[in-house]
Order: sequence, then structure tokens, then C-alpha cells
Amino acid sequence: VAFAQLERDAWSAPGVAATYADLFPAMVQFTVPGLLDGVGAQPGTRLLDLACGPGTVASEARRRGAEVTGVDFSRAMLLRARAAVPGTRGWVTGRSERLPIRDGRFEALASNFGLLHFADPTRAIAEAARVLRPGGRAAFTIWGAGAVGLRLIPEALEALHLTPPLPPAPGFFAYAEPGALRRAFEENGFDSAEERTISGFADLASPGEYWRMFLDGSARTRAGLLALAPEDRERVRTHVLGRLAEYRTSHGLQVPVTAVLGTAGRSIPGGPPVGPTLSAR
Ligand SMILES: C[S@@+](CC[C@H](N)C(=O)[O-])C[C@H]1O[C@@H](n2cnc3c(N)ncnc32)[C@H](O)[C@@H]1O
Repeated sequence: VAFAQLERDAWSAPGVAATYADLFPAMVQFTVPGLLDGVGAQPGTRLLDLACGPGTVASEARRRGAEVTGVDFSRAMLLRARAAVPGTRGWVTGRSERLPIRDGRFEALASNFGLLHFADPTRAIAEAARVLRPGGRAAFTIWGAGAVGLRLIPEALEALHLTPPLPPAPGFFAYAEPGALRRAFEENGFDSAEERTISGFADLASPGEYWRMFLDGSARTRAGLLALAPEDRERVRTHVLGRLAEYRTSHGLQVPVTAVLGTAGRSIPGGPPVGPTLSAR
């Protein structure tokens, strides 16, 4: 409950939503083609962008001609999404663990880096299965263990022996070990699940932008940093900025990012299991 509240408070703050919308897409966009290919998004596909944030997935799904609905519990995020992605079917305020959506409403569901923000990830996977019609497909991304972009701040805290008080929560890399995401799908309403790793780079303007992205535009990392004494926060910042030097380019920074993409289908009762990816059909 405490973690769910932390997440809700963080993302509901207009300033956090604004900073996330301005800066974070650079970190999280690299998975969007894989998510949309994984659910076979094409013209007319009824697609739900789950925990849509500012519409990172929704905007590309619209470009592919899908009929997009976004759901998120943050109204501040939904306002951003509405402004950024015109022509969608709607934006729904709701919790991933209990979607205000009827059974079988969608053909496709994509969730980009939402799962580990949910206090009850497996409940959200079961809800995803419920709102898909038989034959529908879901795709979720989570951070891969090698995601430097996500590791720098936790590693700085560890190196400096700082443990900000945070409520118990799913780990940043929960489900990242091979097979874990696939099993979570298979145990919560899906079949024919698969997973693969996607790697990319976050192109950022400067080390300061990286720091601001997390300090002002995230949930638990922000809460942890804000719980530190100012001088300790400054030590973390110095440590992180030092490590970012390794990723400098002529125009700014290129930080390696890695994700696990899990895709799964809901089979048609009595029919064959849903094939691996619609893009391969
Ligand atoms: C890291 S952001 C990802 C946003 C977007 N999918 C993207 O790729 O940019 C996480 C999003 O999940 C939303 N969120 C977190 N927990 C949620 C929950 N339990 N139900 C619905 N939305 C949730 C937050 O409001 C936030 O917009």
C-alpha cells in the first residue's frame, strides 16, 4: 500500500509528469517498435496502452493506424498524452491492477516500463488478459539487468553506503532473469509467451539532464534521493556525473539501455495457441 501510494503521489504531481514527458522518452522509446511488432499493431487494431504515461507507445501506435486507448492512474500524465497524441479513442483514468474496462475489449495491449511500478504486477498481467479478447496479444517491457541508464543511481547509493528509507516494492530488475517474465504471463492468463532482450542507447543532452530526469521526473528514485540529506544527495550527484563521463559523445551523452520484451497471446478456447508474433504471420 505504501509503495502504491508513493507511485500515485509521484506521478500525479504535474511537475513530475512534465519532466518525465520532456526528458524520459529518450530513455524508454527504444522498445516501442518491438512492443508494437509483438502485438501486431496495424491499421484498425484496437490497442490499449497500459500505464501510458505521456503516450510514448500510443503516439507510435497511432502512426501505424491502430485505434488507441490509453490508461493510467495519473491525470497529469493523461493530460500530457491527450495533448501529444490526437485522434485516439480515449484516455481512461484507472489502476492497472483493476482496470475499469470490460472483458475482451481489446485486440492488443502494450505496456512500456509500467510493470515494476505496479504494487501487484501479476494482478496487472491477469487484468491485461481479461481485457483482451481471445486471440489477442499483449507485450510488456521491463528493464534488463544490463541497463546502465537505470543502474547508475542505485550503484552510486550502494557505493556511498546510502540506503534511503523506501517502502517494500518489486525490485527494479524483478522479472529480468531469463524465463521470469514468460512464466508470469503463463501463470496469469496467457499462453504461448516469449521474451527477448532489446538494447539501445538513450541520447541525452548532458549529464545534468540525466540527473534532472531522475530527480524531478521519476517515482521511487526521486523519493529516495529526496529522502537523503542535501550533502548526501550532492555526493550521489557527483558520483553519477563522474560515471556518465564514460558515455560522452560530441553532442552530449549516449547511455546504454537494455530491456526484456515479453509477448504473449490469449488463445481462442478450443483453438490452436496464438502464434508467437503477429508480425511473423
Ligand atoms: C515509467 S512511466 C511509463 C510511461 C509510458 N508507458 C512510457 O513508456 O513512457 C510509468 C507510468 O505508469 C503509471 N502507473 C504507475 N502505477 C500505475 C498503476 N498501478 N496503474 C496505472 N498506472 C500506473 C504512472 O502514472 C506512469 O505514467
